[in-house]
Amino acid sequence: MTDNIAKRDNFGSKFGIIAAAAGSAVGLGNIWKFPYVAGENGGGAFLLIYLFFVMVIGVPVMMSEFAIGRRGQKNAYGSFNSIAPGKKWGLIGLIGVVAAFFILAFYTTVAGWTLEYIINSVTNKFAAQTPKDLEISFNAFISSSVRPVIWQLVFMVLTALIVLAGVKKGIEKYTKMLMPLLFVLILILCIRSVTLDGAREGLAFLFKPDFSKVTGKTFLYALGQAFFSLSLGMGALITYSSYFSKKENLASTAVQVALSDSLIAIMAGIMIFPAVFSFGIEPGCGPSLVFITLPGIFEQMPGGGIFGIIFFILLAVAALTSTISLLEVVVAYFSEELKISRKKATLIATVAVSVLGVFATLSFGSLDNVTLFGKSIFDVLDYTASNVLLPLGGLFIVLFVGWFAGRKITKSELSNEGSLKVRYFPYFNFIVKFIAPVAIAAIFIYSIFWGGLG
Ligand code: TRP
Repeated sequence: MTDNIAKRDNFGSKFGIIAAAAGSAVGLGNIWKFPYVAGENGGGAFLLIYLFFVMVIGVPVMMSEFAIGRRGQKNAYGSFNSIAPGKKWGLIGLIGVVAAFFILAFYTTVAGWTLEYIINSVTNKFAAQTPKDLEISFNAFISSSVRPVIWQLVFMVLTALIVLAGVKKGIEKYTKMLMPLLFVLILILCIRSVTLDGAREGLAFLFKPDFSKVTGKTFLYALGQAFFSLSLGMGALITYSSYFSKKENLASTAVQVALSDSLIAIMAGIMIFPAVFSFGIEPGCGPSLVFITLPGIFEQMPGGGIFGIIFFILLAVAALTSTISLLEVVVAYFSEELKISRKKATLIATVAVSVLGVFATLSFGSLDNVTLFGKSIFDVLDYTASNVLLPLGGLFIVLFVGWFAGRKITKSELSNEGSLKVRYFPYFNFIVKFIAPVAIAAIFIYSIFWGGLG
């Protein structure tokens, strides 16, 4: 037992911890989902509600996950059991493992598309295509049966290779290289976008709130998006924090990760909306925004070819640092709970996820007639994970920390056994005990009963 703990891999540096956790948080959720969800929900007003949820609910939930993982020193399931032996709380961790499966399955579909689009931009395939052509070729690509599947599998293998190398020599090493790269790429694209003629209108759309567009659904989407974007509610951050050093300040880490994640989401907005407006395109055009609209814009923009390449590399890098955190949840669970080697665990997890993933990918083509409540396999996985499993997991995580684990454990974890001042503790405690559970439950119930399955 002690032997087992002594052998656990750990992150080696503070920057490594931030890079890995921010790498998990920053992903397709920021660059692909955030702009179109914000676009469909009123732009600036959505951004404000979103940032409010990130700071008031996201940060405390993230601190709770960190506290559970670092205290428990195990995977998402095992950490609950080591804090509360003989109780059923481990089930939350299991929900997390299932959620990781679901998310990985549909996430790697889109991540795979980004690889095809890197190749398309390098080979200049978008040149001279009209917007209609771009739409037709995107739809033809995602509905075909071979290429999207191959790219998805390539992406899974890349993810698996990094996870296989371990926490320090794999996850930490690669996220430390990839996150600064990601930042530089997005910065270049932001500068290009705001210097386009007519960029102002796009910036106004993002930063000038129009509250007439706000409905109950806006709150639901904003909280759902906050959870998804911060990688909350399914134990990814429990798993990562089980590798944090005992000296790490959990509260400041959570704030830094949340700020980096929000910064990148805002930068994604700055990079996309001015371009969208300056070329006279509708901002609310949905998930196809980055695959149809943007290539069309790049094509008309001076130097667009090179910016297109940068953009799709950016998307792929962002997705990769997120998929490794998702796969790590499953691998840590398999290897520690089934007591198998990391190698075997990675192999089994990768194969299992790939099988489910292929169904998600094919649901845009040959399996598009397979539906549940009118949703495709891809949408069912996305909806169930993002709107059901993550809020449910988040709810139980805050209930566990607020009501079960007790002040003593939580306070000693957040203060590093009393060596850090935690003046914020009463507020934290109040939020995880009352505010967060009520907010999550309210929005969850709203989404199930009034939002319908639509
Ligand atoms: N946060 C990532 C994104 O924004 C996706 C992600 C990675 C995730 N790990 C997660 C979402 C865990 C929920 C839970 O793209």
